[in-house]
Amino acid sequence: MVSQTEPVLALLLVLLTLTHASPATPEPCELDEQGVRCSCNFSDPQPDWSNAFLCTGAQDVEFYGGGRSLEHFLKRVDTEADLRHFIDVVRSLPWQRLRVGDARVPAPMLFGVLRMLGYSGLKELTLENLEVTGTTLPPLLEATGPDLNTLSLSNVSWATGDAWLAELQQWLKPGLKILRIAQAHSLNFSCEQVRVFPALVTLDLSNNPELGERGLISALCPSKFPTLQVLALRNAGMETPSGVCSALAAASVQLEGLDLSHNSLRDTAGTPGCDWPSKLNSLNLSFAGLRQVPQGLPTKLEVLDLSYNQLDRKPRPEELPKVDKLSLEGNPFLDPEPHSGESDSGVVAAPVHLSLAVGVLGALAVLQGAGLFA
Ligand SMILES: *[C@@H]1O[C@H](CO)[C@@H](O)[C@H](O)[C@H]1NC(C)=O
Ligand SMILES: *[C@@H]1O[C@H](CO)[C@@H](O)[C@H](O)[C@H]1NC(C)=O
Ligand SMILES: *[C@@H]1O[C@H](CO)[C@@H](O)[C@H](O)[C@H]1NC(C)=O
Ligand SMILES: *[C@@H]1O[C@H](CO)[C@@H](O)[C@H](O)[C@H]1NC(C)=O
Repeated sequence: MVSQTEPVLALLLVLLTLTHASPATPEPCELDEQGVRCSCNFSDPQPDWSNAFLCTGAQDVEFYGGGRSLEHFLKRVDTEADLRHFIDVVRSLPWQRLRVGDARVPAPMLFGVLRMLGYSGLKELTLENLEVTGTTLPPLLEATGPDLNTLSLSNVSWATGDAWLAELQQWLKPGLKILRIAQAHSLNFSCEQVRVFPALVTLDLSNNPELGERGLISALCPSKFPTLQVLALRNAGMETPSGVCSALAAASVQLEGLDLSHNSLRDTAGTPGCDWPSKLNSLNLSFAGLRQVPQGLPTKLEVLDLSYNQLDRKPRPEELPKVDKLSLEGNPFLDPEPHSGESDSGVVAAPVHLSLAVGVLGALAVLQGAGLFA
């Protein structure tokens, strides 16, 4: 137990109790007027860490490390310290959302903080621009960390390479619903080490332009995401909808929503058919540079977003799935052109002609009534 408490103390001790204020430095933390949002940027070479006290009453809290290494803090840890005091402090924190970024953090410290946050009511954690160094023993107890709803990672690198997700997962309670991983250094997960995410509904792998369809297969560890409903793959190096379909089939992933927007998708004439997940009802193909509707889409959808592509004519019904809500805005074929029968001006013109005709007929009738044409 004691070895697991060390790293826990490190960051919290530093953040909550040390006072090394140097009077000349500006205060690194700011609390908004409502006392809800608190942000600390410790980019100063000698920051006043104790200023983080300001954030103990906030709900949305951000700590940025100014790119510094937090490794030396591990050496300052008092292993004899009584943890109970810190547990009480953490229990009383109203933190809902925590964002930590711009630092090099030893894994024992990061996981120690996660373990400590297990006593808090934290719901959303974001880690960005972090380099996690070293590794650590797995927790002694199962499900020891925070009971997060949402975990977002962006540009986080891990010394443990492909094993990082499995390692991180051990420090979270299993209720995670939304997992976002952007600018990942590895999504080639060691799947046999990854445990099931029993409640995960949304997996967002957007902004991994190197991922591609082959990378997607290794990222979607089979049977580890049994409750998945939404997969977001914006700007993730996807090439064709049917290639994504094959990757989903290879990983036997069930889905209701798939977001492929912001990929440069090719039209896929002649690719062999693939069975889409049977519950898939929403497909986003916007901002994908499509010149025509790709072949091999699911035959029936509730929502299909084809907006902001390069379609230069209106898709024919037989090219489209049966769809309740279709978005086509932002395609060249909708650009208003003066002589185009389908343009907006054409649609507006009809009632104008009609009312004019009615008016003329009305005038004729009046004149007729007046006996002028009798
Ligand atoms: C923190 O402050 C430094 C120096 O002023 C600045 O360059 C950096 O963008 C800030 N970081 C954040 C996340 O605001
Ligand atoms: C990614 O994070 C590292 C720190 O780990 C930082 O040096 C680098 O600038 C970040 N990259 C981007 C694109 O923000
Ligand atoms: C992914 O990991 C496997 C081993 O787990 C390895 O054989 C493969 O080369 C890796 N792929 C990439 C693209 O790194
Ligand atoms: C599709 O994706 C685009 C861009 O990512 C987004 O703006 C749009 O709202 C999405 N459409 C639907 C129907 O969710």
